[in-house]
Amino acid sequence: MKNETIHEIRKKNFLPTAYHYHKEPLQLVKASGSKVWDEKGKEYLDAFGGIVCISAGHNHPKIKHAIKKMVDDDEIQHTSQIYFSRWPTELAEKLLAEAPEGIDRAFFTNSGSEANELAFMASRQATGETTIVNLRHSYHGGTATTLANCGHHSWRLRAQPVTAVTSALEPYCYRCPFGKTPNSCALECANNVETTIQTTTSGKIAAMVVEPVMGVGGFITPPIEYFHAVAKIVHNYGGKYISDEVQTGAGRGGQNFLMTKELKIDADIISMAKGFGNGAAIGATIMKSDIADSMKGKYFFNTFGGDPYQTMQAKLTMEIIEEEKMIENAKAMGSLIKDGLLQLMNKYSIIGDVRGRGLLLGFELVKDRNSKAYATEETLELMDLCKEKGVLIGRGGLYGNVIRLSPPLSITQEEAHHLLKILDESLFQMSKKSSGSI
Ligand SMILES: Cc1ncc(COP(=O)(O)O)c(C=O)c1O
Repeated sequence: MKNETIHEIRKKNFLPTAYHYHKEPLQLVKASGSKVWDEKGKEYLDAFGGIVCISAGHNHPKIKHAIKKMVDDDEIQHTSQIYFSRWPTELAEKLLAEAPEGIDRAFFTNSGSEANELAFMASRQATGETTIVNLRHSYHGGTATTLANCGHHSWRLRAQPVTAVTSALEPYCYRCPFGKTPNSCALECANNVETTIQTTTSGKIAAMVVEPVMGVGGFITPPIEYFHAVAKIVHNYGGKYISDEVQTGAGRGGQNFLMTKELKIDADIISMAKGFGNGAAIGATIMKSDIADSMKGKYFFNTFGGDPYQTMQAKLTMEIIEEEKMIENAKAMGSLIKDGLLQLMNKYSIIGDVRGRGLLLGFELVKDRNSKAYATEETLELMDLCKEKGVLIGRGGLYGNVIRLSPPLSITQEEAHHLLKILDESLFQMSKKSSGSI
């Protein structure tokens, strides 16, 4: 189908909330490894990995083979969990083996939003409290309770139902809401969680939800001590700590399959999706037994969640990540790309901050480094220039001025260098246009 036709039909028949990247919207038709192709056959390096969804690489041969075999053998693709199946069972065992100690129950969903909905409900059920604490600048999904916990005005609708939530200030070192710098800071952001609980709740909470790296917020990367301090506060006020690993999970951090384990966060519940299924529609909520046990005697069901087709792909994704040492590769390529970004920051003053962990890397574009004014239009321009040169990158941040890089964990050294080269060429082009001022 022609791009123009798709554009027309989307405008006419999709909800007006549908959005797309790039002045000339891109249609993708083919993919392999870290590469994708448009309908005209042009090749791109996918340095955003879908939206942080492609972990083991597009169309990995092991998954392709298994999907073909499943169909050829007439193996059942869908059966809800009222019938037994090996795939969700094997996946649960494999996933829980990667979980921090004490987390030993799993439930599979179709998305990250659903995984978080369950996390909120389970915390409320277990504590008998209703209030969820979230962070400004966070994103946890597009369903009712997840949106109520969203820290971005652009994603929230007026029609959204009110649920019992409260927001703490963001642990955003580059734009610290307390006016501190990492050198002068006494973790005021962590202390603010306690102040928020004391001043906006009954003094008892159901849970606090935190992303180890704040994805949609623009890969905001809190210091490790933040998580340890916050988990203590949350537990002191009777709440459960929910670690939203929808973007950070599946080995992206470069050390463990889950970043919660890598950062030694004392979490009670972890939600995942995106890279967990390497593009298959699967999410998971894993939790401690006492929380799961509080739901005893009730039915909780998800028709498609945990069906063989999705769980098979997630299990094979986990195997591939292990067999091909992709976590190690995420660490090596992550540090190569981060070093390259820091060099670009020395060269171009439009880059105000470089941050992230492993292969979740972001850099913030600012009009000038003193005012830190958001360079939103320039961010779009950089994305378009990279696209013209065959590299796809993502963006995030409250004002859309943060470039997000999250390529497949299988990205090669050659591809990583190519990404940096194209970013350099594009930033140089922009600096020439604005007479060298960026
Ligand atoms: C941290 C985080 N949590 C939850 C979600 C929601 O996941 P989904 O879009 O699969 O419902 C997202 C989606 O971007 C996310 O980034």
